[in-house]
Amino acid sequence: MRDKILVARLLPQEFIDQMKQFAEVDVWDSELEPMPREEFLKRSKEATVVITTLSEKIDQSFFDSATNVKGVVNLAVGYDNIDLELAKSKGVIVTNTPDVLTETTAELGFTLMLTAARRIVEAVEYVKDGKWQSWGPYLLAGQDIHGSTVGVYGMGSIGEAFARRLKGFNCNVLYHNRSRKEKAEQELGVTYKSMDDLLTESDFVVCTAPLTEETKGKFNKETFSKMKSSAIFVNIGRGGHVIESDLIEAIKQNEIRGAALDVVENEPIANDHPFLNMDEIIVVPHIGSSSIETRNNMVQLCVDNAEKIINGDSPITPVNK
Ligand code: DGY
Repeated sequence: MRDKILVARLLPQEFIDQMKQFAEVDVWDSELEPMPREEFLKRSKEATVVITTLSEKIDQSFFDSATNVKGVVNLAVGYDNIDLELAKSKGVIVTNTPDVLTETTAELGFTLMLTAARRIVEAVEYVKDGKWQSWGPYLLAGQDIHGSTVGVYGMGSIGEAFARRLKGFNCNVLYHNRSRKEKAEQELGVTYKSMDDLLTESDFVVCTAPLTEETKGKFNKETFSKMKSSAIFVNIGRGGHVIESDLIEAIKQNEIRGAALDVVENEPIANDHPFLNMDEIIVVPHIGSSSIETRNNMVQLCVDNAEKIINGDSPITPVNK
């Protein structure tokens, strides 16, 4: 019997055709609607490999259903949707998509930072609303990026790619990471700081870290209160890094100026979420790695990992060796 791959989101046909060369493929028929949980569990029963997104929780109930599964191939670099220890205890390989999305994700972070600093969303709405009467000396005046101090929380490959861009803007780049990154310090001229110093000294604080028990809720009442009142917070990590009610309060109390977020705690964001009524907060729908080229590269890496797992070879990008 051929191995079966369950693909939890509709992907371009060329990738499905590639997988059909080495397995039977069962594909969910929507790109934007996640598979209902029951359906996912039911269809994972027969699967040797599942290709998942952040919407699919890989936990005990999954393993209770997917009794034939050998590999969980996650279409993301982050894997906080997966209980890694449990997967390991079941002998199930987990893979992710590192490296191929690094530069694209850093670019989105940079875009968010510029957009928030220069109040681009407000400016576009101002024009669309017919409010543009004349040139004004301080009309929609924002903040400079060049020459500013930027604190990067998480100096992994995305943090480094982000720092490299900041150097082109002549920024003073600080970072905080669970371990020192001497190579990045030498090559990029970034400076390690304690979390407190990073918060107090930075004009922009950018979270690029993965979500772990250690980083969860890191941006909260206490940390926001240490930032400059002019600071802008950018999050391209995970929504779980932020206590959202504390962010709202920090902005309302003028403890920080604003925030630009690619991620929120509960995605998709609710239509009545208070973030959406605040000019100081920009939210985009988790599109960090979303360029066509990068998404193609991510999907290709998933296909290649799935093939390796099915053939009994070592996958290209395992996260739980
Ligand atoms: C990732 O790769 O972890 C992203 O956040 C999903 O696009």
